[in-house]
Amino acid sequence: MSDKIVLTGIKPTGTPHLGNYVGALKPLIEMAQSNKTFMFIADLHALNIIHDPKLIKQHTYEIAAILIALGLDLNNAVLFRQSDIAEIYQLNTMLMNVTPKGLMNRAHSYKAAVDRNTAAGLDADAGVNMGLYTYPILMAADILLYNSDTVPVGADQKQHVEFARDIAGYFNHIYGNILKLPEPVIGRETGLIPGLDGRKMSKSYDNVIPLFAPEKELKKKIMRIITDSKTPDEPKDPDTSTIFQLYKHFATESEIAEFRAAFAAPGMGYGTAKTILFEKINSVLTPVRTEYERLMANPAEIEAILNDGANRARVVASETLDRVKRAMLG
Ligand code: ADP
Ligand code: TRP
Repeated sequence: MSDKIVLTGIKPTGTPHLGNYVGALKPLIEMAQSNKTFMFIADLHALNIIHDPKLIKQHTYEIAAILIALGLDLNNAVLFRQSDIAEIYQLNTMLMNVTPKGLMNRAHSYKAAVDRNTAAGLDADAGVNMGLYTYPILMAADILLYNSDTVPVGADQKQHVEFARDIAGYFNHIYGNILKLPEPVIGRETGLIPGLDGRKMSKSYDNVIPLFAPEKELKKKIMRIITDSKTPDEPKDPDTSTIFQLYKHFATESEIAEFRAAFAAPGMGYGTAKTILFEKINSVLTPVRTEYERLMANPAEIEAILNDGANRARVVASETLDRVKRAMLG
């Protein structure tokens, strides 16, 4: 057990898909086995995009239920909902006052919005709310509130963790050594999961296989994976095939080797390959899906786990906030 504090937030903006599972959720569960981990559902971060409370709640439960169903170790991991911790709003306000506006101007997500607007001939800030503009400050507050050492994120979030480090540095420069500086940890870049059309699986491309699609829907989606028109007798390249790329994240080493050999030799058609893929994914996910569905039918059980997590998170959050308030306000 490492004594490093790991922290990560998951934004409840969509129903998780196989790409999220392989690229983010599964590695997090593994990390939580050997580290003290704060894992929260970043519902406040979803607010700049989703203005429907029912939808935010639905996605919050989905993410919590998935993590629990996948066997997250709730002893090592403190699982909670970001908005349940009142200290976060307060630290956010405090950090506003040491964060240069220019830092926010440099944030990738804000710059991307400005670029899109400029290209469309609109006002640079059209459609940009302050939640989006100050998003990196709230994320810095998340990270600093729990004294995080390491923050595992996808490459797109690395800049935000660096900003959290910068903001802690500005704070400490003025007020002394109060906040711990975090390090980003970028997940393995090798595992980009392709979607139904062969591009990166992403809700923005509408090409996803939902992680817990009911069996029938899972089968239908897998049968719909786009392939080239090679006949069963033609050998196929496993490394460029969506079918094989998905299979290898669910099968054992020997199953992967067997599938690779059969795929690369004449004889296996795409239909057969898809059936094997479906059966593999379905057998791995069925027990987890059953537990997920049980939890989703019992939101009170999810709430109880999130409440317990919030109580544990609050202990650390209130200590950090006290330190910050004393440093800033005397
Ligand atoms: P989406 O692209 O569907 O909007 P997000 O950006 O919300 O997904 O991704 C959340 C997390 O899931 C990120 O950490 C990201 O690295 C991971 N992830 C998303 N899509 C994939 C994919 N196709 N392959 C691997 N990891 C992915
Ligand atoms: N911004 C992250 C995302 O969009 C989610 C997030 C919010 C987060 N707060 C965090 C991640 C703190 C790591 C640490 O995916």
